[in-house]
Amino acid sequence: MVKTPFELAGKSVFVAGHRGMVGSALVRRLAQEHVTLLTVDRREVDLRDQAAVNQWFAGHHPQVVFLAAAKVGGIIANDTLRGEFIYDNLIIAANVIHAAHVHGVQKLLFLGSSCIYPKLAEQPLREDSLLTGPLEPTNEPYAIAKIAGVKMVEAYRRQYDSDFINVMPTNLYGPGDNYHPEYSHVVAGLIRRFHEARVAGASEVTVWGSGKPRREFLCVDDLADACIHLLKTYSDSELVNIGTGEDITIADFAHLVASTVGYGGRINFDTSRPDGTPRKLLDVSRLARLGWRAKVPLPEGIKLAYEAFLRSRAAA
Ligand SMILES: NC(=O)c1ccc[n+]([C@@H]2O[C@H](COP(=O)([O-])OP(=O)(O)OC[C@H]3O[C@@H](n4cnc5c(N)ncnc54)[C@H](OP(=O)(O)O)[C@@H]3O)[C@@H](O)[C@H]2O)c1
Repeated sequence: MVKTPFELAGKSVFVAGHRGMVGSALVRRLAQEHVTLLTVDRREVDLRDQAAVNQWFAGHHPQVVFLAAAKVGGIIANDTLRGEFIYDNLIIAANVIHAAHVHGVQKLLFLGSSCIYPKLAEQPLREDSLLTGPLEPTNEPYAIAKIAGVKMVEAYRRQYDSDFINVMPTNLYGPGDNYHPEYSHVVAGLIRRFHEARVAGASEVTVWGSGKPRREFLCVDDLADACIHLLKTYSDSELVNIGTGEDITIADFAHLVASTVGYGGRINFDTSRPDGTPRKLLDVSRLARLGWRAKVPLPEGIKLAYEAFLRSRAAA
């Protein structure tokens, strides 16, 4: 059944994970829409608790759900907290998607991730490469949980005709990122390290790997805009990648971050550390056909992210 365009105006909208990087960007973006925003603190409702989730849905009747709550982290967190990554992400997806079905939510958007695609899938990564090969072992538990969420959305669409959709963002950065020294993603990790090196007057910073791999980075405010666009205009079972469609070497990216934070010292590349996959870029042609393109240029986005980092430091 064609359910687009979906009328978002006037709806009560639950952003699950509203304090996270993606959730807070969705909240900022939704301020431009005429909606009633619903959020809940995890101290009040732990989304792993099925009874608490059901009770909350029964009491608040959201009409739209953005599922941006998840246990998320960089390569070290994914590889070491493997049990937590599979359990938390499986159960959060199962509880929220099922509650949305039971309580008659009109539209739900589930956030997957580009790491659900097979490790050796052809680049740029197309949506139809899902489940065509083995996953990257370091984040397999996370990816399996996310794939289960994707398949739940597909299954509920098929069996119950639920208007639920799946989107797969590339690597994100921006306000609200996690700057944990061990558990952060690459962008936040580099911002923090170059900032600290500048403040300490360090003359060199070492970046893991050769600097040659190519990666794609999307500003989280662009992601939020794409999610709202798709929520309003898209209703189908196919996944939709969300990215810029452009990649950059880690070496060039490190130099961009260094110049943005004002670090003028030397950058070394530690080739004894693993490089990971040589290239990771999403095919965004489906997204382009659906009428959306990234707007925030990378240098501008990194500047915004650094300003947000400085504000969060000042507030801490
Ligand atoms: N970051 C990226 O580069 C990236 C890339 C692709 C896809 N994504 C996807 O985007 C989504 C959000 O990622 P993010 O980067 O925004 O992560 P994040 O900053 O870590 O935020 C995750 C949010 O989920 C909440 N949460 C986690 N466990 C919970 C629980 N048991 N009960 C209630 N709330 C819980 C957290 O609450 P607290 O704040 O209370 O801890 C937080 O608000 C994820 O599905 C992720 O896969 C992210």
